Amino acid sequence: MNKETKPEFSPGLAGVIAGETAICWVDPNAGLMYRGYDIHDMAEKASFEEVAYLLLNSDLPNFEQLGKFTRAIATERTVPKQVLDALRLMPKNTHPMDMLRTGVSMLAPFDPDLNDHSHDANVRKSIRLIAKVSTLITDGYRIQHGKDPLPEKTDLTLAGNLFYKLNGDVPQDWQIRMMDTILILYADHEFNASTFAARVTASTLADIYAAVTSACATLKGPLHGGANEESMKMLDEIKTPDRAEAWLMEKLAAKDKIMGFGHRVYKKGDSRVPIMREIGRDLGKRTGKEQWIPICEKLEEVMEREKHLCANVDLYAAPVFTMLKFPPELNTPIFAASRVAGWCAHVVEQHDHNRLIRPRSLYTGPELRPYPGTSAGKL
Ligand code: COA
Repeated sequence: MNKETKPEFSPGLAGVIAGETAICWVDPNAGLMYRGYDIHDMAEKASFEEVAYLLLNSDLPNFEQLGKFTRAIATERTVPKQVLDALRLMPKNTHPMDMLRTGVSMLAPFDPDLNDHSHDANVRKSIRLIAKVSTLITDGYRIQHGKDPLPEKTDLTLAGNLFYKLNGDVPQDWQIRMMDTILILYADHEFNASTFAARVTASTLADIYAAVTSACATLKGPLHGGANEESMKMLDEIKTPDRAEAWLMEKLAAKDKIMGFGHRVYKKGDSRVPIMREIGRDLGKRTGKEQWIPICEKLEEVMEREKHLCANVDLYAAPVFTMLKFPPELNTPIFAASRVAGWCAHVVEQHDHNRLIRPRSLYTGPELRPYPGTSAGKL
């Protein structure tokens, strides 16, 4: 067998350009833009629907297009009864991300456009997925806790309805604004692990539900989306700002990974952190839970001093979700309720310009050796 010349190898694909995209750019120097727009401008003013439209289409919607898109998402929220019945069969201790992954997978055969990978059909399916992922999360969670799903409030946008159906309170305007901002921050992040998984799946010409199922499975891991649930466990353990430094020094001495810190691309800070930190401060004042953000800030200071590592958005998202009264196991699903817009936009782009994603590996096994004959006949 011929030996190939040794190819270049980057463990974990670090720094490798694995494809082109016109959807999103992560600037290693703490910037982030969606289709040319700085997220900092949109996070304060736009609705999640406006950003989802922008990701899926090449430009911002006009007033009429936004109204139509927002209504389309609102009318697509209902999940088939058979899917909800299947979620009822899952053990009570099922993680909400596993419920979501199963639910997305089950939605596939109910979609009349399932095997049509044309641009328009993929956009139609994206609208359904963006709407139904939120419902799977909210209804799945209530089912798991022995409760009936709450009826939709069709007058609420996706952000407002998600808030309402998760904690049962009709949100005030400031809560809806906050939810929109959080969902906008999480909506896309170019070739992150879950989006890449979705693109790999789509590149085989598998359908968008298969791709989003792969993405959900990938997001769950604590090195990716699962970090926002793990970060809350860490903050709960620390409890007060004065205990943060000692806690962290002990974990670093044990060579533990600290959740909510580090990033593959950002080296000078995560562009989303300042906005999420501000939301956390605001919520701290509103809820009287003013300990969380100072704990995070102390951890940031010590991590910078000891490891030169920056916080990522999941560190601050964790207390933000807690102060909004969401249980920690829903942190990653709420991330998914937003990122599904990015996943879908990437699948549409992948199918529009498809080439199978199939890299090589560097073989590290034994040299070619003679096969000694089977042992099966001697048994
Ligand atoms: N806590 C402690 N050390 C960390 C760390 C963290 N959160 N993140 C990175 N490091 C250290 C590594 O141990 C490694 O040190 P070494 O060179 O002495 O071995 C160095 O920094 C490089 O880290 P590495 O894991 O190779 O970087 P990566 O680019 O492969 O990984 C993450 C990026 C995000 C997976 C990693 O930073 C991490 O595990 N973070 C925690 C999970 C998290 O918050 N994920 C959400 C990301 S948005």
